[in-house]
Amino acid sequence: MSTQRTAAGLREKADKYTEFVSGGFGKDLAKRLGLPQPAILRRYSPGAPLVEGPILVVGKGAGSDAVANVLLDWHQDVRRHATPKEKLGAIVVVLDELGHPGELSEPMLAVGSALRDLNKNARVVSISRPAATGDAPAVAAARNGIDGIIRSLAKELRAGATANGVLLANGVAPASPSAMSALRFFLSGRSAFVDGQFLTASTEGTKEQAGWEKPLKGNVAVVTGAARGIGAAIARTLARDGATVIAVDVPSAGDHLAAVANEIHGTALQLDITNTDAGQRILDHALGRFGRLDIVVHNAGITRDKLLANMDAARWDSVIAVNIAAQLRMNEAFLASKDFAKNSRIISVASTSGIAGNRGQTNYAASKAGVMGLVRATAPLLAENGGTVNAVAPGFIETDMTAKIPFATREVARRLNSLQQGGKPSDVAEAIAYFAQPAAAGVTANILRVCGQNLVGQ
Ligand code: NAI
Repeated sequence: MSTQRTAAGLREKADKYTEFVSGGFGKDLAKRLGLPQPAILRRYSPGAPLVEGPILVVGKGAGSDAVANVLLDWHQDVRRHATPKEKLGAIVVVLDELGHPGELSEPMLAVGSALRDLNKNARVVSISRPAATGDAPAVAAARNGIDGIIRSLAKELRAGATANGVLLANGVAPASPSAMSALRFFLSGRSAFVDGQFLTASTEGTKEQAGWEKPLKGNVAVVTGAARGIGAAIARTLARDGATVIAVDVPSAGDHLAAVANEIHGTALQLDITNTDAGQRILDHALGRFGRLDIVVHNAGITRDKLLANMDAARWDSVIAVNIAAQLRMNEAFLASKDFAKNSRIISVASTSGIAGNRGQTNYAASKAGVMGLVRATAPLLAENGGTVNAVAPGFIETDMTAKIPFATREVARRLNSLQQGGKPSDVAEAIAYFAQPAAAGVTANILRVCGQNLVGQ
């Protein structure tokens, strides 16, 4: 099996089928037989252009002008009207002033007429307000309509293109730093496997960030379950973005853990996160070595699948202990520490199983849905001091774990999304690295699916 080198320096397996249908005979064959034709996705690498081609900004209000100006500040080639036949890298549609569903027609038809000119791996991003209790019914109808539009458009786009949306909480301006950080994430290759999703900017946020290439410079991050798989990718991506990383895993994974830590010039901490003093051990390590702890990534997780009718206490209890009880206990220790008090970030790895449910995974889904509850309830506790807490919910990701699934089941599972392929560990890692950025300071309590718009669940 061939491999691709990502920006994180991680060698990841490329999916053979996707390569086969990407050119020549394989492409023709797949077309004739009506087989899925997944695109090779554009993934982020430092220094690469944000998007490949001009960005068309659709919208009439002051918000769209302000967003266009931010894109110009980022040295993007911005269009306010489509030029026939000109290939576009992205379309940004600003709809923050909607009062009635009838007002969706003009901007969306303008987007529609530009879709044929999209380059491969292009982006469509909406910026709008979520429907809220207290909205006039017509306003709520218009705002909610965007949800249906983006989720449907994501299913219509081809060739690696995606559609996602930024939601602006009450009082947050379209061009606020937090909304613009979310827009930048969606436009860039960092969001390659994020499709049909929304990020909410809860507050204005801040512009204070050491550039876009090393946004985590000066920060100290801890990643649990970092010896392999998604955790190792997260550790590498945070290090690439400038963070000093403490890689945590169980002692039995010590060799792999040391290899990851050495590669990224971080430190290794052998620790079972179910130990009652795990949070304090992490704090002691971080403060003792580096004098600070800024970012916590709760990635370690296990599965012990069984139908509920056949479930035993050992399977149930171990999944709850690792996947959720340990996070709750560690967070208590972090929140009680004044050294983790200011502008801190907690990011948890959930799962689409916790959203849509999965046969044989009542225990796992309980823990992952539990993670989402924890995130929403912890957000206000961190907000007082400028901290955020978010979760990423991966869908089918190509890891050692999913490689063990029998071929036919795996093949179906990995194609059941709008991008018709599995994601890579780095796709999950990029979303986590985004939430860790200073520019995402106003983005909290989000559950972001990294699933290629999996057709199961919402
Ligand atoms: P993995 O099994 O390859 O890696 C998990 C790591 O966590 C291992 O290195 C393991 O030693 C460590 N770990 C387990 N228990 C621990 C403990 N008590 N203390 C410290 N470390 C511990 O799993 P993978 O696939 O990389 O998954 C990472 C996270 O992503 C998990 O939370 C998983 O539930 C989640 N996820 C994975 C998906 C996939 O398709 N692979 C899909 C959705 C979610």
